Amino acid sequence: MPPLKTRERLSEVRYEIRGELARRARELEGQGRTLIKLNIGNPGAFGFRAPEHLQRAIADHIHDTDPYTHQQGLPEAREAIAAHHRRRGTPNASPERVFIGNGVSELIDISLRALLNPDDEVLLPSPDYPLWSAATILNDGRPVFYRCNPENGFLPDPDEIESLVSARTRAIVLINPNNPTGAVYPRALLERIVAVAEKHRLLLMVDEIYDGVLYGDAKFEPLAPLAGNLPCLSFSGLSKVHRACGWRVGWAVLSGDPTACGDFHHAMDLLGALRLCANVPGQFAIEAALDGGDTIGPLCASGGRLFEARRAVIESCEASESLRLVAPAGALYAFPGVAGAAAEGFDDHAFALEMLETEDVLIVPGSSFNVPYRNHFRVTLLPEPALLREVFHRIDRVLQRHAGRARSPGEVSRAAVA
Ligand SMILES: Cc1ncc(COP(=O)(O)O)c(C=O)c1O
Repeated sequence: MPPLKTRERLSEVRYEIRGELARRARELEGQGRTLIKLNIGNPGAFGFRAPEHLQRAIADHIHDTDPYTHQQGLPEAREAIAAHHRRRGTPNASPERVFIGNGVSELIDISLRALLNPDDEVLLPSPDYPLWSAATILNDGRPVFYRCNPENGFLPDPDEIESLVSARTRAIVLINPNNPTGAVYPRALLERIVAVAEKHRLLLMVDEIYDGVLYGDAKFEPLAPLAGNLPCLSFSGLSKVHRACGWRVGWAVLSGDPTACGDFHHAMDLLGALRLCANVPGQFAIEAALDGGDTIGPLCASGGRLFEARRAVIESCEASESLRLVAPAGALYAFPGVAGAAAEGFDDHAFALEMLETEDVLIVPGSSFNVPYRNHFRVTLLPEPALLREVFHRIDRVLQRHAGRARSPGEVSRAAVA
């Protein structure tokens, strides 16, 4: 039998976070090696637990979880999400405009499927969280990347975003707080991006899954209140702020002029109905999560585990001759760049492989996040601070080798011959 053919556009999709390096890591583990895996922002894998009152809410309702729910989700959970958005100032937030999904991941896919016709364009950040570009491609659209460069604190430039708008552009995607860079977007910047969307009649899609994960004086500005009457889809969920990735609970809230959003709303509803409903048990934790007090704040404040992990990364980068870091203001990652002698001839993928093979550390190369440069990598801030310091010690050891080779190439080639 000839090999089964697969969807051709899959060849355009990048997803290194669980890709070739992760596969090699599994092989090494199979051979008995113990690895430090920093490739996935999965709090439960690093000893974090979902708050107990969320677990209890599911346990208390387990007998009610057998039937399908409405395709958009449990009414009481949608009411809790709508109320949360009303408190933030989202206009017209109502349970009818809330879509609950199997994580934000499923809703990204559904919403792009609801929106795109072949060759429609979506403006995406570079670096991006690669599901956004993958879902754009697999729903027949074309990602068009706007730059969020380290020289600008990883913030986008609204003028550049506008310069990329074409007759085929349908939406602007923002990830705030950002994965992988940790940038948190100030209000004035968001207002300028809203103005671009308004001028060109584009849907705003904002991935706010890290909305409570903030360090120092960083302030999160929800986009929907600034978008006002413009169509805006805001995504969040239980995976990160509430440390419950495995429950697969996410939501999207549609805001803006109901007449302009009507067809899109129906399309989302139809696609939701085709997959029947989201996983039900996790939905019972939503009200408890949104009404039950802040449990992420203490982890992100001075002395908290995430704050100290971030401090460990910042101090390690400061102490290194070869690393440059824009300190993350939010989210669960750092995205350092390699500079100086170590950066000569540097290739992020080869570096990640070297870290894995020689130092037992799994990181994600920056180019996996759709950036044109190849001198960055991503680590998650979820491990214990001491472990992160150890990881950066190993990273620096490898980078010093690179720098040494760059400074005295003759010696290295003689050594190689010997
Ligand atoms: C920016 C961003 N959006 C969405 C997701 C997926 O979230 P979920 O677990 O709700 O599917 C992630 C997961 O890491 C993420 O970083």
